[in-house]
Amino acid sequence: MALAAVVLAAGKGTRMKSGLPKVLHKICGRPMISYVLDAVEEAGIKKTIVVAGHGSEMVARAVGASAAVALQSEQLGTGHALLQARNFLADFRGDILVVCGDTPRIRPATLAGLAAEHASAGAAATVLTAAVDDPFGYGRVLRDAAGQVTRIVEEKDATPEEKRVREVNTGIYCFSAAGLFEALAGLAPANAQGEYYLTDVVGRYVEKGLLVRAVAVKDPGEAAGVNDRLQLAGAERSIRSALLEDLMRSGVTVIDPASTFVDRGVRIGPDTVIYPFTMVEGDTIVGAGCVIGPGTRLVGARVGDGVTVQNSIVVDSSVGDGSSIGPFAYLRPGTDLGKDVKVGNFVEIKKSRIGDGSKVPHLSYLGDAVVGEKVNVGAGTITCNYDGQKKWPTHIGDGAFIGSNANLVAPVRIGAGAVVGAGSTITRDIPAGALGVERARQTVLPDWAGKQKK
Ligand code: UD1
Ligand code: CA
Repeated sequence: MALAAVVLAAGKGTRMKSGLPKVLHKICGRPMISYVLDAVEEAGIKKTIVVAGHGSEMVARAVGASAAVALQSEQLGTGHALLQARNFLADFRGDILVVCGDTPRIRPATLAGLAAEHASAGAAATVLTAAVDDPFGYGRVLRDAAGQVTRIVEEKDATPEEKRVREVNTGIYCFSAAGLFEALAGLAPANAQGEYYLTDVVGRYVEKGLLVRAVAVKDPGEAAGVNDRLQLAGAERSIRSALLEDLMRSGVTVIDPASTFVDRGVRIGPDTVIYPFTMVEGDTIVGAGCVIGPGTRLVGARVGDGVTVQNSIVVDSSVGDGSSIGPFAYLRPGTDLGKDVKVGNFVEIKKSRIGDGSKVPHLSYLGDAVVGEKVNVGAGTITCNYDGQKKWPTHIGDGAFIGSNANLVAPVRIGAGAVVGAGSTITRDIPAGALGVERARQTVLPDWAGKQKK
């Protein structure tokens, strides 16, 4: 049976109290809706339509090429939302899986299982339900004496007795395409919220004698909707712990999962150890046998094998095999460290390339620099890369030795094997192998201190 999916994502998410559409709030670095779209794709569904409304342009950008976007310009309810996908599915013959954009924990196997059950039973509609301890806020699934589903009633429309029902609608359904849009077009907003409820299709179908089935999800947590920031934090917690479990199963040591934060999409190699209070974000890739943390933040970083990064921040930069960073270093965007580079404490590097085996061990700032191999940059060395208007490059050749507390006023070139005397402010190029020194001769006055006291 051909299968298409519609993801409902037009709602504002009033309970989020946010300027951002609910489905774009991030969980482990990725918008909530991307989890749903990934699950739909992994369930093998090729044709997906996202119904967007609030912030539809932003939602369309997040959706990208993974689905078509239908517009629901006024949010008149979930039934009205699904109806907006009609034109995209006019010629479609098969089953339509409906998923809400605010259920990020849904698993592909659950979606595929629901569709398979629906098809094998030959049902007109199959509702994914969950048995929960606290059904507050969800639509309740009502059944007759024989256990047949009769309809779904929303929290706001339910009688006290109906509210006691603990079987809830997850908001995930499979419908046969035939007759669905006609049924949606016939809905009426005769309820407490004045909305066109998708859930009313269930009651209508049952009245017409069509087969409606309910299938319970094994883990109700999977279908938990995110409606406010507390549920957002809950979803983040559970998705993050699953990500960390996957990493641990793949050979990564996470010393304290409770204080380790990884984004979805991060890759970390085996035998890497993550110390506490560490965040690994964006599309960061860490190699094998590294020691990351404690207290480290990697954002969009490329880290090779056998690298140590402690108490440091690395943003949109790459670090070659065997290098050691920190403690207390800051690698800003565009930094590219070769192999076996040492960047020590209180060092900031921006948009610079540092060659293999070079060392910047203490208290330095390098910006817009190209540093060769096996260079030693002495403590306190600064590239003066900004003249107040423009940024300029500094070039340091292989094997050069920069004495402590040097100022390299860019643009400037230090040749291979050259030496810069400690404390110099270098404004002119130094050829290969030369010494560049710039400082006043030292004056020594004998017995001066004693005379002062008298
Ligand atoms: C809905 C169900 C409820 C179910 C719950 C599961 C209805 C009437 N109720 O309630 O039975 O237990 O989900 O989480 O369907 N949306 C639109 N356009 C609209 C309204 C909503 O696209 O006009 C989208 C929202 O963006 C959201 C989804 O539909 O992704 C669900 O809407 P929401 O307002 O969260 O519905 P619930 O009250 O949670
Ligand atoms: Ca919801």
